[in-house]
Amino acid sequence: MRKAKEMSLTRRTFLQALGTGAGIAGAAALTSTLAQRRDKGRVTAAPRKILIAHRGASAYAPEHTLESYSLALKQGADFVEQDLQISRDGQLVCLHDLTLERTTNFKDVFPQRFREGTVDDKSISTRHWYVSDFTLKEIKQLDAGSWFAPKFKDARVPTFHEAVDLVKGKAGLYPETKEPEVYGQLGFNMERLLLKDLQKNRLGNRSLARHTPVIIQSFSAESLKTLFGLVGSKSSLVLLVNESVAPYWLTAKGLAEASKFAGGIGPAKTLIDKNLVQQAHDLGLTVTPYTVRQSDHGPFKTLSAEMSYFLYDLGVDALFTDNPDLFPRSRITN
Ligand code: G3P
Ligand code: CA
Repeated sequence: MRKAKEMSLTRRTFLQALGTGAGIAGAAALTSTLAQRRDKGRVTAAPRKILIAHRGASAYAPEHTLESYSLALKQGADFVEQDLQISRDGQLVCLHDLTLERTTNFKDVFPQRFREGTVDDKSISTRHWYVSDFTLKEIKQLDAGSWFAPKFKDARVPTFHEAVDLVKGKAGLYPETKEPEVYGQLGFNMERLLLKDLQKNRLGNRSLARHTPVIIQSFSAESLKTLFGLVGSKSSLVLLVNESVAPYWLTAKGLAEASKFAGGIGPAKTLIDKNLVQQAHDLGLTVTPYTVRQSDHGPFKTLSAEMSYFLYDLGVDALFTDNPDLFPRSRITN
């Protein structure tokens, strides 16, 4: 009984942290918009739903560029997401993949700088341009926009520091530690690098953090446990869950374990149903599905209708979307 009470307090603290950032993003502060409701004699908070711009406004501008982040802010994002990789000289950069191949003109600039590997039966040779093989100065030479549309040809891969500078004071930051184990093998400690960058930006400072909340997400439970150990709080840590790890993390046992080192779960949207949301909430965990986007709104008439279903029918707390402009601030009824 006592345990349940403590956990429910944790979720409320987490949601309030999310909400104060939303206030600075241009909407009313959560604290002033909390709809207090009575639930079996307890006062519980029904905070506004949180919009996370996935890789920025990535339906309209090349993902993880300052152009995409700026547009997300204009479209009213409460948080802007950054996937993190590490350059050869130890700088955190915002890029989804371990390699430069999908989103830059790597071949034009560094045609010979690949690393050779093999796959499966070792008979097929592959060439890869890993982020970790290039210095920040080299990465900055790359065009990170033309793959999306010619008008974005001047877009660059931003450092995390540049992303913070752009977003700070306007919305929250939502960095993801990507492949921390791979970087660990290269001698980097992604969690420490991230916390150092946040501290440099005074985001460890309580008063500033109130205007720019930071939520850290990862598919790696180990990474979140490390962060929990370093930060001493789980409330701003979210465990991402995909189909392959769901069989454990979305069981009663897995959820209970996650609640010991994270304040929320971020499952793939296909894994979510009302029962899961309820179970997670009962443990004090927030629920934030990924990724809701215009190009794939399943059986729903519109993307906004799909988002409304997750937010107001299933009761998730927040969601990741490529289309921040289509986020419904209230239930869509038709
Ligand atoms: O971080 C939420 C979602 O972005 C996870 O998937 O592959 O887009 O990073 P991915
Ligand atoms: Ca991500």
